[in-house]
Amino acid sequence: MATHRVAVLNGPNLGRLGDRETEHYGDLTYADLEAFCRVRGRDLDLDVTCHQTDGEGDLVGLIHDSAAAYDGIILNAAAYTHTSVAVRDALLCAKVPVIEVHLSNPDAREAFRRQNLIKDVVTGSVQGFGLTGYGLALTGLRSLLA
Ligand code: DQA
Repeated sequence: MATHRVAVLNGPNLGRLGDRETEHYGDLTYADLEAFCRVRGRDLDLDVTCHQTDGEGDLVGLIHDSAAAYDGIILNAAAYTHTSVAVRDALLCAKVPVIEVHLSNPDAREAFRRQNLIKDVVTGSVQGFGLTGYGLALTGLRSLLA
C-alpha cells in the first residue's frame, strides 16, 4: 500500500511554543513539535508535512489546499477553534478525515475556551496530552486510512 500523506496544520501563536504560557504548554518548542510529528509519521509509514500560520485566512487556505493534496489532516486551530466560522466552513468542504488536536485541555481553562466551533465537524479530537496528543492523532488517522 502506498504511504499516506498527512498535513499537520497549526494555528496562531503555536510558533511561539517554548516561551509562550509555559504553565500550559511546557518548554516544548514549535521545532520540537514538527520534528516529533515527522519521526512519529515515519514510524507509522505516513508522509507528514507540517505548517504553522498566525492568519485566519491563511489557515482556511491551508485547509482547502491540504484537503485536496493529502489523505488526512491533523489540525490544531489554536484560538480559531473558539472563534472562527471561516475555519469551520473550510472543514465542511474537506472530504478527507480531520483530527483536531490541542496540547492543553481547553475545557479545563477559561470559560471562553469551552466554545468550540469545530468539534462537531471533525472526524475525531485529542486534547490535554501535550505533544503525545499529536502522536495519538497520527496513530488514529493511520488506522482510519488503513
Ligand atoms: C490550544 C488551546 C487553545 O485554546 C489556545 O488558544 C491555543 C492552543 C492548545 O493546543 O492547547 O493557542 O489549541
